Amino acid sequence: MSAQIPELSNPSVCMKDPQRVQDILHSMVKAGSNTLQVISDFDMTLTRFSHNGKRCPTCHNILDNSKVISADCKQQLDHLLHTYYPIEIDSSRSVEEKLPLMVEWWTKAHDLLVEQKIRKDLLAEAVSESEVMLREGFQLFFDHLHEHSIPLLIFSAGIGDILEEVIRQAGVFHSNVNVFSNYMDFDESGVLRAFKGELIHIYNKREGALLNTGHFQELRTRPNVLLMGDSLGDLSMADGVQDMENILKIGFLNDKVEERKRSYLDSYDIVLIKDETLEVPNAVLIQDCLFI
Ligand code: TMP
Ligand code: MG
Repeated sequence: MSAQIPELSNPSVCMKDPQRVQDILHSMVKAGSNTLQVISDFDMTLTRFSHNGKRCPTCHNILDNSKVISADCKQQLDHLLHTYYPIEIDSSRSVEEKLPLMVEWWTKAHDLLVEQKIRKDLLAEAVSESEVMLREGFQLFFDHLHEHSIPLLIFSAGIGDILEEVIRQAGVFHSNVNVFSNYMDFDESGVLRAFKGELIHIYNKREGALLNTGHFQELRTRPNVLLMGDSLGDLSMADGVQDMENILKIGFLNDKVEERKRSYLDSYDIVLIKDETLEVPNAVLIQDCLFI
C-alpha cells in the first residue's frame, strides 16, 4: 500500500529522511485511524505566527494587548516578551541554559497577570477583540478528527482558559478535544487569584505529560501518534504515551529559519517552513482515514 501525499512536495516542506516519513505513514495507515491519537501544541502551531506580515498573538499576548491589563502592566509584559522571546528562539544556547530563564519569564508574567485582578467574565471579549487566528485549514482539521473520533490533546504552555475560548469561539471545541495547559484560578467573585497546579513552560512538557498518566492510560489502544509543535520543547509532549508504536512529528519553523533549520530537521520528521496552514497535517490525517 502506498502512502504518497502530494502535499509533501510543497515548497514549504523539508524532510531529512523522506523514506522514513513514508515508512511511518505506511505503518500508521495500515494500523488505521482507530489506533491514532493527535498531540498538538497550541501557540504558533494551531494558531498562525503571522498574517499580512504582522505577528499574531499567543494566548499570553491576547491578554497583554487587551483592556483587562493596565497600560503600565502591558509595558512590563512587553518588556518581558522582548527580553525572553529572543532567548526562547536562540539556537546558540542550550536547553539547560534556557530552562531557568523560561521559568523566570513565565513566573514573572503570571505574577504580573495576577496583580491585575483579571475578571473571568472579561476573557471572552479579550479573545473576540484580539487578532488571534487559527491556521488556515483549522476547520477541516478539528472537524475531521471529531468525525473520526480521533482524540486531540492540545498541550500548551499558554493559558488554558484563553486557549479554550479561542477554539470555542471558532466553533471547534469538540468533545474529542482535551487540553493540558496553565489554568487560571479565580476566587468566588470571579477574580484571578493564582494559576492552578504545576507551571507548564516550553521546556517541561515531558514532566507535564508524565503527570497525566490517566489520560494516556485511557488512550492505550491508540499507540500511533501524530505530534505537532513549533518549539523543540514540544517534542516531549508524547512522552506519556503508553506502548507507542509509531510517531510522526511535524514541526512548524516560523522564525529564525536559517539558524534553526538543521536542529529542526534533526528532530522533526517533517519541517514546515513559514507555512501558515494546516494543509500538510490535514493531508496526513485524511490519508490515514482513507484506508480504514
Ligand atoms: P505554547 O506551548 O502553546 O506554544 O505556548 C507557549 C508560548 O507562549 C511560547 O512560545 C512563548 C509564549 N509566551 C508569550 O507570548 N508571553 C508570555 O508572557 C509567556 C510567559 C509566554
Ligand atoms: Mg508553540
